[in-house]
Amino acid sequence: MTTPLPLPPVPARIVAAPMAGGPSTPALVAAVGAAGGLGFLAAGYRTPTQLRADVAAVRDRGPAPFGVNVFAPVAERPEEVARLAGYAERIAGRGARFGVAPGTPAHGDDAFGAKAELLAELRPDVASFTFGLPPEDLVRDLHAARVPVWVTVTSPEDAVAAAATGADALVVQGWEAGGHRGGLTDEEPAQLGLLPLLALVRRVTPLPLVAAGGIADGAGVAAVLAAGAALAQLGTAFLRTPEAGTPPVHAAALAEGRPTTVTRAFTGRRARALVNDAVRALDADAPAAYPEVHFLTAPVRAAARTAGDPEDAHLWAGQAAALAEPVPAGELVGRLAADARAALDAAARPR
Ligand SMILES: Cc1cc2nc3c(=O)[nH]c(=O)nc-3n(C[C@H](O)[C@H](O)[C@H](O)COP(=O)(O)O)c2cc1C
Repeated sequence: MTTPLPLPPVPARIVAAPMAGGPSTPALVAAVGAAGGLGFLAAGYRTPTQLRADVAAVRDRGPAPFGVNVFAPVAERPEEVARLAGYAERIAGRGARFGVAPGTPAHGDDAFGAKAELLAELRPDVASFTFGLPPEDLVRDLHAARVPVWVTVTSPEDAVAAAATGADALVVQGWEAGGHRGGLTDEEPAQLGLLPLLALVRRVTPLPLVAAGGIADGAGVAAVLAAGAALAQLGTAFLRTPEAGTPPVHAAALAEGRPTTVTRAFTGRRARALVNDAVRALDADAPAAYPEVHFLTAPVRAAARTAGDPEDAHLWAGQAAALAEPVPAGELVGRLAADARAALDAAARPR
């Protein structure tokens, strides 16, 4: 195997996670980068044209390194697709509250091929993949363009497979994490929390590890660095920053202290979200069909967002959601890095 490409310089050791669906704006990415962190554009649900414009907008704002994250295509599951008609009736019932009908389910790959080509052309400082492995010829093209490849893993088995494709670093996503399960499968009987997952992944690969899931303060950053991670990746902690494009109904719900749960109700793929009426009503019946369920529920979720109604919106959030604060992203990066250093110093002092 060839030598992995190095991590970009990230003096704060903080990565702002890619967050598709609005939160990861060019303004957020640039603010995190300017503060010594690494920001990520989320290419998921963006068109290739929008992605190109987003990359240009980040570059216009300054020279800091940044990454781009892409959803790898997910295999179609005919036995789950067969359950969509029944689920559509349930979604129609919820849509009636807003006067909207369910969307049309379809199996797509989110323009993966076109976005993959763009990555090699636009050369972000990192290309990261979630929901699956990048094809080997793409990894070769990205390496030829000197773009490091990161792959999200949620088990040691994923880590072995990702390392074999030539990944340069692994994003290790614990069960605590907000948003979709990002590994090669969302069927996870082991459901490993971040600290055991880091230790178990470390046993199977020497690659640099980027730790994600439930980290929302400096002590949490310190904990994963002490556990051997090279960088800490935080998502939910950035959702209430003014630079993030988080829908207002989502940002407001984060401040309410709701519990989180993992559910297929909104997209068909398991994702951690704040508990609301839709989760309570739909979770048990949701087919494991991604992205078909995403398209089916999209109009209802959009209507709920417009109406400012949190009960039918997908409110992705990690287990430490209550710690997310409405502070500028650069200030948050500075504070997390300083608090992490203080926590590491305190932990190293004899008592
Ligand atoms: C609103 C939201 C959207 C997300 N979108 C993406 C995405 O597009 N790509 C991705 O790899 N991970 C995505 N994630 C997962 C994050 O990369 C990361 O694993 C997670 O935020 C870490 O847990 P935390 O939210 O507790 O910090 C998303 C998470 C959230 C909260």
